[in-house]
Amino acid sequence: MGSINKQNSRLALTTPLYYVNDVPHIGSAYTTMVADVVARFGRLQGRSVLLITGTDEHGQKIQRTAEEKGLGPQQQCDQIAASFDALWQKLNIEYDRFSRTTATRHQAIVNEFFQRVWDNGDIYLAQKQGWYCVSCEEFKDERELVSGGYCPIHTNKKAEWRDEENYFFRLSKYQRQLEALYAEQPDFIQPETRRNEVLNFVRQGLQDFSISRINLEWGIPVPVDSKHTIYVWFDALLGYVTALLNPESEPTLENALSQWWPINLHIIGKDILRFHAVYWPAMLFSAGISSPGKVFGHGFLTKDGQKMGKSLGNTLDPVDLVNRYGSDAVRYYFLKEIEFGQDGDFNETRFVKLLNADLANDLGNLLNRTLKMANKYCQGRTPDLTGEDIAADHTLKSIGLELSDRVTTAYESLSFNQACEEIFALIRASNKFLDEQAPWSLYKQGKQTEVESVLYTVLESVRLSAYLLSPVIANLSNDIYQQLGFSYDFNNKTQVCKDMPFSQHAQWGFLPAHQKLGNPQPIFSRLELPSENAL
Ligand code: MSP
Repeated sequence: MGSINKQNSRLALTTPLYYVNDVPHIGSAYTTMVADVVARFGRLQGRSVLLITGTDEHGQKIQRTAEEKGLGPQQQCDQIAASFDALWQKLNIEYDRFSRTTATRHQAIVNEFFQRVWDNGDIYLAQKQGWYCVSCEEFKDERELVSGGYCPIHTNKKAEWRDEENYFFRLSKYQRQLEALYAEQPDFIQPETRRNEVLNFVRQGLQDFSISRINLEWGIPVPVDSKHTIYVWFDALLGYVTALLNPESEPTLENALSQWWPINLHIIGKDILRFHAVYWPAMLFSAGISSPGKVFGHGFLTKDGQKMGKSLGNTLDPVDLVNRYGSDAVRYYFLKEIEFGQDGDFNETRFVKLLNADLANDLGNLLNRTLKMANKYCQGRTPDLTGEDIAADHTLKSIGLELSDRVTTAYESLSFNQACEEIFALIRASNKFLDEQAPWSLYKQGKQTEVESVLYTVLESVRLSAYLLSPVIANLSNDIYQQLGFSYDFNNKTQVCKDMPFSQHAQWGFLPAHQKLGNPQPIFSRLELPSENAL
C-alpha cells in the first residue's frame, strides 16, 4: 500500500504556504481540499493527524503589492491571511495549524536553522547576477525566458536583471546525498513523471543558490549581516517546521522536531517541485535533519481548456463557486473529476452534470427512495437483520466486503478519483439491485422477509458509501448517517478518530438491526445547467 506508511499511526502533512499578494485562487483551494481529504481519511483510520497550511508573507512580491495598494506590508499580510482562513472555513477544511511566516516564533526557528547551516560551513558571500521573476521569487536561466525576457510561468511579467552581493547556500555539496535519497526512497517524489524531471535536473549538476537579498526590507534579517534579509523561499520552507511547534512550546528546533518530524507528505503544485524536492532536503541535510517522507507535485487547473489568468479574464473564484454550489459539490468535483497528478479542467456544464448524476441521482435518490420504503414497509426502522444474516455471495455484500480495502488503497496512493469510482460502483450496483428486486412488488406479494433483506442490504451499502466518502463530502455523509438514525458528526475530529472505529464502520454489515431511522429528506438538490447550456 503505497504512499503513507501504514505502520505509522502519525500523519503530518502540508499544503504550500500561500503567498499573500492576492486573495486565494482556485489552485490554492484545490491543493488544500486534497490535503484535507488525506487528513480526514487518516483520522477515519484512527491516526493522529497534523494538517498544516498557512501563508508565505515575506519577499519583494508582497512588499511591492502592499506599496501599490498604499498599505503597510503587515497590514497587507493580515488582510490576505484572513481571507485564506475564511475560504478554508467555507470549504470545510479542518486544518490543525496555520503557519504564518511573519510570526515571531518563526523568526526564532529561521535564525537557529540559519546558524546551524552557517556553522556547517554551507553559507558564503558572493556576487549574484541574473534574471529574477518577482512573481515566482526565483532566478531564471536566460534560456528559460520567453518572448524577449518574460517569465515562462508569468508570461505577462518581465524578468528583472539583478547584480548584487548575496549569501549563497552550498547546494552543490549535497548532490550525492540527494541522489542517494532519491535512490533509497524511490517514492520520495511523486508522481513518477515529476520524479524523472527532478532526477534529470539534478543529474545535470547542482549549482549553489542565493539565500539572501540586499536592499529588501520585508524579510527576516540575516543573523550574521543585517544589511541582508533571508531569501523568501529559504524562510518559507522553514514555515513547515515552525508549524510543528506546540502552541505552548519555546520556539526551538529541538522542540519543533520532537513530535511530528519527519513530515510525511508535502502536497504542492508542479511549479514549486524543485524547491521542495531539491533545495529543501539539501537544506535539511546541512542542518543535520532527516528529509521528509514524500513530495507530491500535482498538476495545474485550466478553465474550459484554457490556462487561467487575470489577463485572460477567466479566473475561477473559489469563494463564488462555494457560495453558488456549496462546499461538498466543489470538493467532489475536483477530487472525482481530476486524476491527481495530471492537469485538470473546470467546466461548469461538466460540473453540474457530474453532481446531478452522482450526488443527486445515484446517491441521493437511492437513499431517499429506500428510506421511504423502510418507512412504509418496516415502520421507519432498519429491518431486523444484521450483516451476518446476509449470505456472503449476495451481490451487494460481496462488493461491500472488499470495498474498504480497495478504497483504502486508493486513498493511500492519493488516487482520489479511483476511491470515488470504487464507492460509486457499490452505489450503482445498489440502484440496479433495487430496481431488479422491486421491493414494492415483493411487498404486494406479501414477501416481507425478502423486502426486509433488500432494504437492509441497500441501506447498509449507502451507509458504507457515506462513511468512505466522508473525507470528500463530510456534510452529505453527516446527512446520510443522520437519516439512517446515527448521531455522529464527521466534522468532529475527535469523534471520527476515537468514537467511530474504522474496523467497525468500514465493514459492510455494521448497520444495526431495528434502528430508528430519520426523516427522508433529499440530501442534494439537482443543479441547473448554466444558462447558455440550459436547453
Ligand atoms: N509561497 C509559495 C509556496 C511556499 S511553500 C513553503 C507559493 N505560493 S503560491 O501561492 O504562489 O502558490 C501556491 C500553490 O498554488 C502552488 O502549489 C502552485 O502550484 C499552485 N497553483 C498556482 N496556480 C495553479 C493552477 N492554475 N492550478 C493548480 N495549482 C496552481 O508558490
